[in-house]
Amino acid sequence: MKPSEWLSIRVVAPPPAWDAVATVLIDSGCAGVELREQPYSIVAYLPSTEKERLDEIEAQLHRLPEYDLPAVQRFEVQSVSEQNWHTAWRRYFRSRRFGERIRVQPSWSGYRPAPDEVVIRLDPGLAFGTGGHATTALCLELLERYLQPGMRVADMGTGTGILAIAAAKLGAREVIAVDDDELAVKIAQGNIERNGVADRVRAQVGDGFHALSGTFDLIVCNIISGFLIQSAPQVPPMLNAEGVYIVSGTSGRNWRGGVRRAIESAGLQLEEVRKRRTWVAAAFRKP
Ligand SMILES: C[S@@+](CC[C@H](N)C(=O)[O-])C[C@H]1O[C@@H](n2cnc3c(N)ncnc32)[C@H](O)[C@@H]1O
Repeated sequence: MKPSEWLSIRVVAPPPAWDAVATVLIDSGCAGVELREQPYSIVAYLPSTEKERLDEIEAQLHRLPEYDLPAVQRFEVQSVSEQNWHTAWRRYFRSRRFGERIRVQPSWSGYRPAPDEVVIRLDPGLAFGTGGHATTALCLELLERYLQPGMRVADMGTGTGILAIAAAKLGAREVIAVDDDELAVKIAQGNIERNGVADRVRAQVGDGFHALSGTFDLIVCNIISGFLIQSAPQVPPMLNAEGVYIVSGTSGRNWRGGVRRAIESAGLQLEEVRKRRTWVAAAFRKP
C-alpha cells in the first residue's frame, strides 16, 4: 500500500491505559501500533479505506474510564505523508533481550551477539511484532522454555514473523507461519530471508487453522481472545501427543472469562500461565 492509503492515529494517554488503547486499535484493524514517550502516546496506522471506523474507535477510547482506566487526553488523525512514512516508526524500535537467550534487533543497526545469544533481526514495517508488546514478549519467553530442537512448529498470526524466526533459531526443523494479512506475510518473508532461515520457515497467507495441514509438536498463536475461543476445538487434532500450544493476545479478564475454559474443554491441559501488566500468555499440552 502507498503512504497516501493510510491514516495515522495518535492517542495521547498515560501508560496504565496503553494496553487497552492498543487493543482497541489492533482490534479495529490498525497496523504498526507503537508506544511513544514525551508525551506518552500510542501511534497506529489505519488503512484509509476503513476511515468510517474512526468514530467508533474514538467512542471506544472515550469509554476507558468506565473500566477504571485513565481517560484518553487527545485523539488525532492525520493522513500519512511520503516523507515521514518510511522512517517515522523506526525511531521507536530498539534492541531488546527476552528470556535467557533471545535478542530482537532492528535490522538497520549493528550488533555483535554474545556467544549463546539467539539474535532475530527485524524490519517490522507495518506488521505487528517487535517484542515491544507484552503478548509478543511473553510468547518469546514461552517459546524459549518449550521449544525442543527438531520440533515441527506452526505460528498462527505471524505478523513480522518474529515468533516463527525465533522458533527456527531455537532449533525447530520446520515452521509454518500463517497470517490473513498479505502485507504481513510479505514483511515476514523479508524477515525470514534476512535471518537466514528460509530453508526451514514457510510464510503463507491463510485464515486461521484451516490454512494448516499435518500435525505439529508446537503451535503458537498470539491473536485476540475471540479467535482463541472460537478456534480452540481445531487445535488438539493438529498437535502430536505431548504437543504444546502457546497462546497470548488475551487480557486477564478474557482469560478468566472464557479463553482458558475453551482450550481446556477442547482437551488440552494447562501447563503454565504468565502475566504482564493486563496481558496473559499460557502454555497447554496435549495429554
Ligand atoms: C497480535 S498480532 C501477532 C504477531 C506476532 N505473532 C507477535 O506475536 O507479535 C496478530 C496477527 O494475527 C493476524 N491474524 C488475525 N486474525 C487472523 C486469522 N484469522 N488468521 C490468520 N492470521 C490472523 C493479524 O494479521 C496479525 O498479524
